[in-house]
Amino acid sequence: MAKITVQFTCAECGTTSGRWLGKCPGCGAFGSLVEELHGSATERSVAALKPVKLGAVRAEEATRLSTGIAELDRVLGGGLVPGSLVLVGGEPGVGKSTLLLTALGAIARDGRRALLVTGEESAAQVSLRAARLGGTDSVEILAETELDAVCATLEAERPDVCVIDSVQTLHAAALGSAPGSVGQVREAAGRLLRVAKEANVATVLVGHVTKDGAVAGPRVLEHLVDCVLQFEGDRYHEHRVLRATKNRFGSTNELGVFEMTASGLVGVPDPSELFGTTRAGEVGAAVGCALEGTRPLLLEIQALVAPTDLAMPRRVGTGVDPKRLAMIVAVLGRHAGVALASADVFVNVAGGVRIEEPGADLAIALAIASAARGAPVREGVAAFGEIGLTGRLRQASQAERRLEECAKLGVAIVVVPDGTTARSAVRLARAETLRAAIAAGLEPRERSEEAVA
Ligand SMILES: Nc1ncnc2c1ncn2[C@@H]1O[C@H](COP(=O)(O)OP(=O)(O)OP(=O)(O)O)[C@@H](O)[C@H]1O
Ligand SMILES: [Mg+2]
Repeated sequence: MAKITVQFTCAECGTTSGRWLGKCPGCGAFGSLVEELHGSATERSVAALKPVKLGAVRAEEATRLSTGIAELDRVLGGGLVPGSLVLVGGEPGVGKSTLLLTALGAIARDGRRALLVTGEESAAQVSLRAARLGGTDSVEILAETELDAVCATLEAERPDVCVIDSVQTLHAAALGSAPGSVGQVREAAGRLLRVAKEANVATVLVGHVTKDGAVAGPRVLEHLVDCVLQFEGDRYHEHRVLRATKNRFGSTNELGVFEMTASGLVGVPDPSELFGTTRAGEVGAAVGCALEGTRPLLLEIQALVAPTDLAMPRRVGTGVDPKRLAMIVAVLGRHAGVALASADVFVNVAGGVRIEEPGADLAIALAIASAARGAPVREGVAAFGEIGLTGRLRQASQAERRLEECAKLGVAIVVVPDGTTARSAVRLARAETLRAAIAAGLEPRERSEEAVA
């Protein structure tokens, strides 16, 4: 029998040590030693194995488990893959437990075995939530934090789906460190990965996120699992967005939108209708069409331009990349005659959605230009397109998809970069430069008393 020993390994350079040290003797990094379990391999004799041809490997593609939540299935790439390991991260209180309990309920109602391992809440607490959500009577529950016990249960019971809420509460007795520490989380994820593959249990780990939004624990956790989902959204806002940041079985660009209600999370199948409307004549608001995976999304983008005495005026974006925002503000100033050097610029994307693709540039620029000039965006106008540093517009990807979405929601005119073609029944206003796009998108009237520039 191989002897299990505890070793400390440097996360930076891999140097090992028998005891914990503050400074790695190998690379000199501080606090990088992590506790790990090692089985000594001295007495093991290893037989050579025979590789097989990839063509001879049989796999059934059509065996995905539907979670009963259409938006979650979409983000997973069509449902849970049996035996896969999924990590769901999100800020405290965003609704991770709610979402997964709802999914387990639907899976159990479908006649499959669904197990919830809860380390954070007691069984009684979960039952209170279950009563509020309804339809979760057949979900099995285990209140346990001991890693060995959890793994043994999974191997013996072999449920179809298991949710671990959360991976930070699991505790391997052989390691001396506290639950939630890097060594513990890594050990838990590694063990669960093996059990998930061997017992063919689709396992969902709930993970906490750090202040800057990354899943807490080592980066290696994200490498281990098959799929990393981020659950985002304002805790004080009822809309939540679920996106995949890694997916071995599907696209990572898909987006699921939910609304938090008293009876749980409800999927929003048509978020454009919800987020993509502005009030006619409102200064500083524009509608953009961003593409999230295969899903075009109309979004209201709001901007505020306020005079400032600060030497370095502020550019604050909620839901937009700060670097892109700074770039758009600079291009507006240099190439479109919208001077913002002595003004603070605030930009906000409706519904707590975060835009990460350049196709939304033009709508952000229109909102800022509208706020700066005090002229509203023309009624029924939406815009999309990438802004280049020279002030020229570049075509956005999958324009036809976006235009279809605009047509569906009754947008009258879409301001697009030159060269964009349309088959949809929607009128286009093509513009070569940002300056021309602003002229096409904004009402000509300028209320100078409100204008900053
Ligand atoms: N009665 C209720 N009516 C409406 N919304 C509720 C109600 N009870 C809870 N919620 C919502 O559920 C959220 C908590 O959900 P949940 O416990 O699933 O979050 P979580 O992500 O698992 O949090 P944690 O990280 O603390 O485990 C609350 O922030 C609140 O928005
Ligand atoms: Mg929770």
